[in-house]
Amino acid sequence: SNDIVIAASILSADFARLGEEVRAVDEAGADWIHIDIMDGHFVPNITMGPNVVRAIRPYTKKPFDVHLMIAPCDPFIEAFADAGADMITVHVHAGPHLDRSLQLIRSLGVRPGVSLTPSTPESAIAYVLDKVDHVLVMTVNPGFGGQSFIPGQLRKIRAIRQMISDRPIHLEVDGGIHVQTAPLVAEAGANALVSGSGVFDGGDYAANIRALRDAAMS
Ligand code: DX5
Ligand code: ZN
Repeated sequence: SNDIVIAASILSADFARLGEEVRAVDEAGADWIHIDIMDGHFVPNITMGPNVVRAIRPYTKKPFDVHLMIAPCDPFIEAFADAGADMITVHVHAGPHLDRSLQLIRSLGVRPGVSLTPSTPESAIAYVLDKVDHVLVMTVNPGFGGQSFIPGQLRKIRAIRQMISDRPIHLEVDGGIHVQTAPLVAEAGANALVSGSGVFDGGDYAANIRALRDAAMS
C-alpha cells in the first residue's frame, strides 16, 4: 500500500457547481476524478451523460475515471472517449459482450477497466484480465453514494489481487470507503480508492483526502 490512488467521486459534489467542484478536489489532492454514469436501467438512478463530462473537462488535467453503469454500454463508449475520458470502466453484466467492450475502449486510446458488483464472483473476469488497466470491485450495490461498505467483498479483493499477480493492473474499490474501511481494503490488496461522501462530506476536501490516504497507508 505504498502508492495509494485516491479517486474522488463527484457523485457527491454539488451538481450546480460541478466544474468548480472538480477543480476543488484536484487542488485538494485527488489523483483521479471518478465520474459515475447511471442510466436508470442498469441501476435505479440517473446521473449525467457525455455532454456533462465534456463540460467539466477543462477544469482539471487529472485523469477522468469514467464508471459506466449503463446497459448496453457499447453505444456510448465512443461518446465518453470523445468527451475526455482517460479511463472507462464497464460492468461484467452490462453486456452484451464484455470482451468486445474492452477492445472497443482500448481502440479509442482509453484505458479499459472492468467492474464487479457485490454478487459477481472473481471468476467472471478470469478471461479479460489481460485486457484491462484496472479492475473495479464494488463494495456496495451500484446506484447511490453514501451506502454502507459490504465486508464480504474483502475476500474478493484478496482473490483478485492474487489473480492480478505481477500484471500492471490497478485494483480499485468503490462504495463505502471511509477512514474506517480504507485500511481494510488496502490490506486486502486494493491500491485505488474511490470515495464520494468520504471526500465531499464536511467540505474540507484536502483534509478528507489526506485522512483517507493516511488511513489506507496505516
Ligand atoms: C455508486 C458509485 C460510487 C459512489 C460511491 O454506484 O459507483 O462511485 O459515488 O459513493 P460513496 O463513496 O459515498 O460510497
Ligand atoms: Zn463509481
